Amino acid sequence: MIQPSTFSTAAGDSTLAAVPAPLPLGELVAGPGEWEVEIGFGKGRYLLRRCREEGDRRFLGIEVAGEYHGIFVERARSQAPPNWLAIRGDALYLASAVLPAGFASALHVYFPDPWPKSRHHKRRLFDPQTVDLVLRLLRRGGRFSFATDFLDYGERVIEILAGYPGLRFERRDRPWDEGPRTNYEAKYEIEGRPILRLEGILEVDGREAPLHPLGARAVLAATWVDED
Ligand SMILES: C[S@@+](CC[C@H](N)C(=O)[O-])C[C@H]1O[C@@H](n2cnc3c(N)ncnc32)[C@H](O)[C@@H]1O
Repeated sequence: MIQPSTFSTAAGDSTLAAVPAPLPLGELVAGPGEWEVEIGFGKGRYLLRRCREEGDRRFLGIEVAGEYHGIFVERARSQAPPNWLAIRGDALYLASAVLPAGFASALHVYFPDPWPKSRHHKRRLFDPQTVDLVLRLLRRGGRFSFATDFLDYGERVIEILAGYPGLRFERRDRPWDEGPRTNYEAKYEIEGRPILRLEGILEVDGREAPLHPLGARAVLAATWVDED
């Protein structure tokens, strides 16, 4: 059964049925400040640190696993200012139907599930058919950060991003200046596992962001299927 998305703030919880789409972000988290988004925040190590250290910014975290969402919400309610919104739900669904485009000044995706089987590639956050849903959250000039230990997937993400109009990005050849950002990164660094990191900037507004040329072809192909 598909569960309705849960929207949690410092003030309480609500469900998608109670919150209209596109999401009224300013009503859910009051106050000024640019928005940063983290997709698949896990136990929320990075998101929590940023919320605590930067009370003049606002943070939206999306996590599909209820247990991890709950861990973050409990910690954020006791340890952080009320500058965050944590949604338990599927990021691709939320990005396509619920979240406004072009609202975020930064997007973070660390160690996303690689979905190695080819029939599952459409579930990847970075596939030609999904990449525009994710990147459209950024405003013009918004920054994008990514890391994976699944190097084949990382190389594929580089190919996909290289074919995406309006994004400038580069491979980062060293760890983040502040050390490991997330739990997975900390664990993999101790194990000595190679990590592929990317940083980029969206040079168009997410509201005008194009489809990936390969993804757009798939959309057209789907439109042309004759069911009769
Ligand atoms: C490998 S873990 C990485 C967690 C964290 N980013 C880290 O680096 O420690 C991937 C996380 O992404 C979440 N996730 C996977 N698919 C998702 C989706 N479609 N929407 C939101 N979260 C998702 C998983 O539940 C999991 O917590």
